[in-house]
Amino acid sequence: MSFDIEKIRSDFPALQQKMRGGHELVYFDNAATSQKPKSVIEAECDFYSHDNANIHRSAHELSARSTSMYEAARDAVLKFFKAGPDYCAVFTRGATEALNLTAQSWGRKNICSGDEILLTQMEHHANIVPWQIIAIERGAKINVAKIGPDGSLDMDDFKSKLSGKTKIVSVAHASNVLGTVNDIAEIGRLAHEAGALFCVDAAQSAPHMIDGISSSQPDFLAVSAHKCYGPTGIGALLAKKEILDSMPPYQCGGDMIESVSWNGTTFRQSPERFEAGTPNIAGAIGFHAAIKYVNSLDKAALHEHESRLLERLTSRLSQISGLKIFGTAKDKISTVSFACEGIHPNDISTLLDAQGIAIRTGHHCAEPLMDTLGVKSTCRASLAFYNTTEEVDYFADTLEREIALLS
Ligand code: ALA
Repeated sequence: MSFDIEKIRSDFPALQQKMRGGHELVYFDNAATSQKPKSVIEAECDFYSHDNANIHRSAHELSARSTSMYEAARDAVLKFFKAGPDYCAVFTRGATEALNLTAQSWGRKNICSGDEILLTQMEHHANIVPWQIIAIERGAKINVAKIGPDGSLDMDDFKSKLSGKTKIVSVAHASNVLGTVNDIAEIGRLAHEAGALFCVDAAQSAPHMIDGISSSQPDFLAVSAHKCYGPTGIGALLAKKEILDSMPPYQCGGDMIESVSWNGTTFRQSPERFEAGTPNIAGAIGFHAAIKYVNSLDKAALHEHESRLLERLTSRLSQISGLKIFGTAKDKISTVSFACEGIHPNDISTLLDAQGIAIRTGHHCAEPLMDTLGVKSTCRASLAFYNTTEEVDYFADTLEREIALLS
């Protein structure tokens, strides 16, 4: 399969527009959300135009159609992440809800006083706060594995904090700030060896994953569609079915019960147990369209292209005086955080925006990591496979010029 960047770019309508002052859009905020190909936009539109009905409920043709489209999306998610037959995919609003579900349901039932939860210094708030709430409620302790100077996980520190008391290890596959890709196969092996469960926040890595979960076998894995070229408001918790079926419901309502009476309620097995109420049916169908789109491309070629872009971006930024890059681990997704001496990140973002360049600045929902790095905020450029070397050069040239003007 070949890699035709022009063809790929033409599949994304949002990339075709001119921004302020007629500049081409350079979209480098893909870690916040990716742009969507036409096929995803059309899949949602077609669903609402022809097939829209509630799922699992009514005995008419439209309902049968939408039910089978929704369930086909679930199968596609499991296949995309190479999950074996012992896994189940629960549709959620996104990775955040998947992590909250895990903490609120599995955590509340299984974490007791004196137990420990092992996280890392590079976690997003979505993989910190749900565990903090459960730890406080249950009298458990949170341990935090350190990162090294290059932003990679300090595996010796991680091992020293993992023990028989650790009930769950929950780790980002890739950091949304540093870009570091963690060795989840090894972390998962160590967690399981210690008798802990293993949860992976794959929000950032999902669009870059080639192996799926096959090598790490996590007990829980959280993903969002919108970072994988799919719609917002839909994601999934991929988890071992046996574990899901042992967990109490997280929200209650229609479609998740076996029977309700004034004497009590019994619940369906997973995944329905965790999908109370009418789900985001169109979102699931859009997610499926995004998976089909990515599957139609040569994933190895996309991966190589993004690696080349990352290398170029890192090398160009490294040559700008007064600019510091946060996170230089050997294995990274194409996300680069940086700060420029004496210039507020928001000023940089505003100046770049005036030239058509979209990046994100702030604490990136990782305040504890900002504390570790000793900054309040950073600029972050995050790339996707539709970005180009020319865009990287335009970005670096513009940044260098603006910094020189401000210094
Ligand atoms: N978590 C997303 C980001 O890193 C929104 O920007």
